[in-house]
Amino acid sequence: MFPSSTAIRVEHVTQRFRLIHERPDTLREVFAKRFKGKSSVHDFEALKDVSFEVHHGEMLGVVGVNGSGKSTLLKVVSGVYAPSAGKVEVNGRLASLLELGSGMHPELTGRENIILNGLLMGYSKKQMKAREQRIIDFADIGEFIDVPLKQYSSGMYARLAFSVATEVDPDILVVDEILSVGDANFAAKSFKRMMDFRDSGKTILFVTHSMQQVLQYCDRAILLEAGRLVIDGAPEEVIERYAPGTLASTSALASASEKYLASLRE
Ligand SMILES: Nc1ncnc2c1ncn2[C@@H]1O[C@H](COP(=O)(O)OP(=O)(O)OP(=O)(O)O)[C@@H](O)[C@H]1O
Ligand SMILES: [Mg+2]
Repeated sequence: MFPSSTAIRVEHVTQRFRLIHERPDTLREVFAKRFKGKSSVHDFEALKDVSFEVHHGEMLGVVGVNGSGKSTLLKVVSGVYAPSAGKVEVNGRLASLLELGSGMHPELTGRENIILNGLLMGYSKKQMKAREQRIIDFADIGEFIDVPLKQYSSGMYARLAFSVATEVDPDILVVDEILSVGDANFAAKSFKRMMDFRDSGKTILFVTHSMQQVLQYCDRAILLEAGRLVIDGAPEEVIERYAPGTLASTSALASASEKYLASLRE
């Protein structure tokens, strides 16, 4: 179906940001800066020479502590940022569910954002109108669908963004941890949808802080530390490196969760 078995290829990607320290701390520093001409701007690398591949049909977990570069990596893969160095190749139609504030327009209503997102993905307005009701039903945010996004709660935003990303029938789904802000009902519903996606052979790149989810759902995982990819391997190996000594308890949690899900299906 695809010309290559690789859905996403990230090669030697470095992402640099310019950090500007705007507020001098003391009066003395203000003068020191003015007279010595010191600059408080410096470059910061959020991703450093990162390379990995995701194959079609694979679910890859991305883990790492706060600030390690996970969301930045997802934005580079989704085309929100052009990498400062290296390259990203994507084979297939990609939909992404990024952290709050990316990919949706705050001044537009939910309904308008549905159309806008579809247009950005290459669908016509008519095609999106045909999907609109399904998206609204799954998001289930009531009258807020006609309210500007800036008035949404985090959970409402996540509901709408997830619903749009999964209803546009992508080959590749990129999901930041925003699903964790949904309530229990929505978390279960969205996870089920993500699993249906995986089972139908689609590719998923998934950021999570839950080692249980990595173990239970991912085929493979990568660990980022201060912008560097330090391990790419089986979920067990990555968990052992990231949170040493927790694999046994994580496995117990994962199997309890499997049993619970199976009992719901009976
Ligand atoms: N637009 C930006 N400008 C400057 N620095 C940024 C920008 N976006 C991210 N960073 C910095 O890059 C680093 C990585 O941020 P990123 O959001 O990718 O981390 P993360 O792994 O997703 O963290 P978390 O678990 O908290 O979501 C952080 O130090 C952050 O301050
Ligand atoms: Mg993040």
